[in-house]
Amino acid sequence: MSATAQKSAPLPDDIRAMKGGTPIVSLTAYTTPMAQMMDEHCDFVLVGDSVGMVLHGLPSTLGVTMEMMILHGQAVARGLSRAMMVVDMPFGSYEESPAQAFRNAAKLMAETGAAAVKLEGGRHMAETINVLVARGVPVMAHIGLTPQSINTLGGYKVQGRGAAAEALVADARAVDEAGAFSVVLEKVPATLADEITAGISIPTIGIGASVGCDGQILVVDDMLGLFTAFKPKFVKRYGNLGEDGEAAIAAYAGEVRSRRFPAPEHVFSDKAPKA
Ligand code: KIV
Repeated sequence: MSATAQKSAPLPDDIRAMKGGTPIVSLTAYTTPMAQMMDEHCDFVLVGDSVGMVLHGLPSTLGVTMEMMILHGQAVARGLSRAMMVVDMPFGSYEESPAQAFRNAAKLMAETGAAAVKLEGGRHMAETINVLVARGVPVMAHIGLTPQSINTLGGYKVQGRGAAAEALVADARAVDEAGAFSVVLEKVPATLADEITAGISIPTIGIGASVGCDGQILVVDDMLGLFTAFKPKFVKRYGNLGEDGEAAIAAYAGEVRSRRFPAPEHVFSDKAPKA
């Protein structure tokens, strides 16, 4: 390999092998430029169904479609050369049966080039995970707060407190045994996230979980301050692009209205420039 050779994108097994080592870094992405920005810095990029709320203004992830995931997956793929891409399976595309899940997972992978899919659910999705993995579809599981189930979970509550902890541990073990290569733990108590991380063989990817997880993920628009409709406690803002963007737009509007934009350097003369 030459000194300038590009590092190739990790595969799901490489992510699995990162268990217990340097924390796995991941973010969501939905567009090519965002994917380009994070390609050097992330081990994997998730085309999350949060795209529905973040980019399309939907009230929840429930209205996200296969078509949306394919379109955004294709856009993100064009921006990645080093990070692995995982695409979310949208609500209604996998819960009916393992056969339905395989059909849609295969379509997502074939049409976007994703290395893996993510689906929500623990013990009740174990059989599906097993079927997918046996047929060549690497699966990232997602347990704890599973946003596609907010109507049965009673909203965006912390999951696994008190007596509910045992069920979440069972979910984590079930997806591990079913063959998932990693599992997202969303909005669970930190002590429980640590117990799960220590008790399963695959990496845990925390979001509102614990610094002790094997990796972390955030919604990119949350951490950049681009999505400001609400801010969950687990989000740390590393930028204020929403405020900066609005200030830039206000400055533009002011300059257009006062005829300060375009300035002479932004317009063309009737003479061709000298060669
Ligand atoms: O859709 C999404 O963005 C996710 C992450 C929050 C894990 O599932």
